[in-house]
Amino acid sequence: MGPFTIQLPDDEAELRRRYEELKRLIHYHNYRYYVLNDPIISDYEYDRLMAELRAIEEKHPEWVTPDSPTQRVGAPPASEFRKVRHPAPILSLANVFDDAGLDAWLQRLARLDPAVLETDFTVEPKIDGLTVVLHYRDGVFVLGATRGDGEVGEDVTANLRTVRSLPLRIPTRPDGPKPPPYLVVRGEAYMTRADFEALNEQLRARGERPFANPRNAAAGSLRQLDPSVTAQRPLRLLTYQIVVYEGPDEPRTQWDALRYLEALGFPVVEADLCPDLDCAKRAYRKWLQRRPTWPYDLDGVVIKINDLELQRRLGAVGKDARGMIAYKFPAQEVTTTLRDIKVNVGRTGVLTPYAVLDPVEIGGVIVRKATLHNFDYIREKDIRIGDRVIVRRAGDVIPYIVGPVIAARTGEERIYEPPTHCPVCGAPVEKVEGEVALYCINAACPAQLSRNIEHFASREAMDIEGLGRKVAEQLVAAKLVNDVADLYYLKPEDLIPLEGFAEKKAHKLVEAIQASKDRPLERLIYGLGIRGVGAVTARLLAERYPDLDALRHATAEELSSIEGIGPVTAQFIVDWFRRKQHQRLLEKLRRAGVWPRASRPSPSAEDQPLAGLTFVITGTLPTMTREEAKAYIQRHGGRVTNSVSRKTDFLIVGANPGSKLRKAQTLGVPTIDEETLRRMVEDPGFREQLLAQRRRTQG
Ligand code: IVH
Repeated sequence: MGPFTIQLPDDEAELRRRYEELKRLIHYHNYRYYVLNDPIISDYEYDRLMAELRAIEEKHPEWVTPDSPTQRVGAPPASEFRKVRHPAPILSLANVFDDAGLDAWLQRLARLDPAVLETDFTVEPKIDGLTVVLHYRDGVFVLGATRGDGEVGEDVTANLRTVRSLPLRIPTRPDGPKPPPYLVVRGEAYMTRADFEALNEQLRARGERPFANPRNAAAGSLRQLDPSVTAQRPLRLLTYQIVVYEGPDEPRTQWDALRYLEALGFPVVEADLCPDLDCAKRAYRKWLQRRPTWPYDLDGVVIKINDLELQRRLGAVGKDARGMIAYKFPAQEVTTTLRDIKVNVGRTGVLTPYAVLDPVEIGGVIVRKATLHNFDYIREKDIRIGDRVIVRRAGDVIPYIVGPVIAARTGEERIYEPPTHCPVCGAPVEKVEGEVALYCINAACPAQLSRNIEHFASREAMDIEGLGRKVAEQLVAAKLVNDVADLYYLKPEDLIPLEGFAEKKAHKLVEAIQASKDRPLERLIYGLGIRGVGAVTARLLAERYPDLDALRHATAEELSSIEGIGPVTAQFIVDWFRRKQHQRLLEKLRRAGVWPRASRPSPSAEDQPLAGLTFVITGTLPTMTREEAKAYIQRHGGRVTNSVSRKTDFLIVGANPGSKLRKAQTLGVPTIDEETLRRMVEDPGFREQLLAQRRRTQG
């Protein structure tokens, strides 16, 4: 039952009461954490409540209802989404793009109903995500749908359950009002830019296709047939409308509706209440200013007539609600002409195409180049040289080509052929099986070489101050270096003839290079730029091998036996060391005295914090992959096995745990989360306490 001693009441009625109380408490603490960002109990206490809830559900599986906090994930994958008819049309909005358009909207309305001149407005940010429609019966979340065509949407209930800030049961707050018997709420599912970048990073690392923008990522994640995939996606929710309210005391204004949703425990958009359109225009400008630094994409504001009865009377034109209007921000997407496609060569030799554009302004910035991701992308989107193309730049994201405007084709456009030779050195390019990228395989390619040097000198690697991209390119162009080892043979007089180098700067750089000889082994390994060897893998290697000599003799089999290193990376490492030119490089490094030896003698096993403990992992941990968690435990002296038995000391449980959890519960193996694992390693007092508690519970 977790690392906690749990005493359940013997009396059935008492147990039932406690069960209901726990569900309420946990919902409330979820809400404090995910909606208010203001938790009032520690993770440890939270885990304790969850453990108690699980213990009761274990004893009484018949009590478990879908609104239990344990039921966020758990629905099996579906083969398709069920269609659901919306209880009322899910309308959309007309757009205006300037103040005059906004004034014209109100004048049109005033002709239909002069009351609009007396009412006030709410102004809300327009979140660039996708509409979700959430149904609650007696406060319980029973159905969630996408917008679809506004009449019929798709049932994505199981996926929406995994969104932590979505209330499964309301009221969520102890002081919250009682919801009406039937309530349908509309909101936006979205992803922050930071979460989107991190997700794409993960997808790329797994060889999967990244999403083009946060909106697509949110839509793709919500429309997953397997809810356990959605559960791992950082989807968020903000609500902004009551679609159906069946019950007494229905809010009469949009402002009151938002306050009411907030009181029920929903995450709600931040709104301004404006007495007139001048105020609404100021609110628009406020959001426009915030937009570049706002954590998620906004594409405008929505201005709504506050009086809901008046809104209803105004009705709709086609599918657009009359009583609201989207005041859109200037486009982050524009069209321009694609003049040329050029190719960048990266450190590992990967070739990346980019677009050369007729300069165009997007959101106040002049854009001349945009990324085309990879050669498959160009082919799949059928992007041709000379095309009118849609370019998008959102937030801090690098501008990219969304696609061509096919209707604007003249027939003059040219189909682009990916290069067969490296544009910088002319060596033939290669495609690696199973990857989309093309590679220049000439390790002496000047483009690769200068990127390699830049990487070698970067802060996380050898940290050579004053050696960035520009200087690296200068050194390569002047043929002063043929590989990273040559850096250590540079003399100030070699550098003085270079542009921008005077005596002082030349001396400083040479000193900085020499000073880097003492960097630890892991940084040198990382700096070599071996494919697949990032900072984490480099550390694992430096922990296992005392120096580069030992590493270069390692076999692929031996390398992949290291926790955290897979067979593909192992092979990359072996291939790298096998190359003649890299062997020469190593010799030069050794002669120059760049030959660190692993400094830390590994502490004897018994001294390590997790010595003698056996762990099993289930589910997805919040910050570590399973491999990383394994490596982490082993580094600290623990053992990791694959299945739970009586010998297991702890089961580490992440999101969407598998059957191991049940087994652990049956055997009485304590369960902990990632955070607790880290605390065990970092905090000896905590560890002792936990182990003592464990000994007690195991009798
Ligand atoms: S109100 C009758 N409020 O924008 C229309 N929509 O372009 C009700 N959106 O489909 C929508 N933030 O997905 C409203 N604060 C907000 C919004 C918002 C984003 C989205 C929503 C809608 C689309 C219309």
